[in-house]
Amino acid sequence: MMTNRINSLSESITIAITTLSQELKAEGKDILSFSAGEPDFGTPQVIKDAAIKAINDEHTKYTAVDGVPALKKAIAGKLKRDNGLTYEPNQIITNNGAKHTLFNLFSATIENGAEVIIPAPYWVTYPELVKYCGGKVVEIQTDDTTGFKITPEQLKAAITPKTKMLILTIPSNPTGAVYSKDELTAIAKVLEGTDIMVASDEMYEKLTYDGEFVSCASISDDMYKRTVTINGLSKSVAMTGWRFGYMAAADTELVKATKKLQSQSTSNINSITQYAAIAGLDGSADADIAMMKKAFVQRRDEAVKLINEIEGLSVLKPDGAFYLFVNTKEITQDTLTFAKELLDKKLVAVVPGEAFGTPGYFRLSFATDLDTIREGIKRIEEFVKENY
Ligand SMILES: Cc1ncc(COP(=O)(O)O)c(C=O)c1O
Repeated sequence: MMTNRINSLSESITIAITTLSQELKAEGKDILSFSAGEPDFGTPQVIKDAAIKAINDEHTKYTAVDGVPALKKAIAGKLKRDNGLTYEPNQIITNNGAKHTLFNLFSATIENGAEVIIPAPYWVTYPELVKYCGGKVVEIQTDDTTGFKITPEQLKAAITPKTKMLILTIPSNPTGAVYSKDELTAIAKVLEGTDIMVASDEMYEKLTYDGEFVSCASISDDMYKRTVTINGLSKSVAMTGWRFGYMAAADTELVKATKKLQSQSTSNINSITQYAAIAGLDGSADADIAMMKKAFVQRRDEAVKLINEIEGLSVLKPDGAFYLFVNTKEITQDTLTFAKELLDKKLVAVVPGEAFGTPGYFRLSFATDLDTIREGIKRIEEFVKENY
């Protein structure tokens, strides 16, 4: 009854584990969950106030498919201020979360076995959406020896005449890796003279702790032309439930194509969210962002220290995002079983590396309070000692 296309789509493992741990919690079990990909903070008051004002001002009707002009202006302002990038309103479109941005982008550009290069470990959604759109996933495996970053040589070797796109996630989910300007420049050199697009997912930009965040499109004119920048507010200002994402691209025809798809599928994103998002983009929430970032740095440092004290586990200090990607290879390569038994025996939820295309690791989100982090890692230590 169902299409092959939908049958080939896997459910998100991260969402499945998060849902399972929520169900176990509801049954009264003392679950400590480190699986969710969302900040534990509330949405900043200034953003909530903007939303309430939007309701009272009757901004409750359909809007332009790509977003109200004030919002697109705020996005262009953010890209200029933070990233040194110039985009006109017709080079920007807003979507129902960055996941939706990616769906529209891939729908508009990928078909008939077009190859999409995805560095692994990758965010779970990319390969599924690429396959759904008829593309072929070409993985480049990375590990902690290169800080989970691809090298120009690896990229060169992965390119074929059918390569359509390279996806980069900076900072990375699940590893927190951040490419430096020099590293991006080296990647850009490999792409010069090709028709390969870069989908640059910059969702965790504001959560860059060490080093400088550099937007792919800002590397050179050539990169500006070939890069589609994807960003949103879910992670930076704790707006996961509001559903807001956007895309900026030099190619106005591409933006127009995704707008056409959106006009026939979801139409404009929630009108209230649009006005709230302006306050998340224009600097009004900067103090809140700084507060959250400070808390994340403290949690990261504590979690890294505690994990590295456990015999058999090791982790690199992530430069960004709010995840540790913990290496278990000394004790096991089978992290699916590791994560399942950890949940069964110690009521601790983490996401196995298999979900990100890289077994032998698990992802631990530190978007939760310090006490929970300490208790959770204590249970992980007991689990490792008792079982390996
Ligand atoms: C790397 C990355 N990109 C995009 C998203 C999608 O975010 P949203 O759809 O909430 O804007 C996520 C969420 O987990 C993510 O980790």
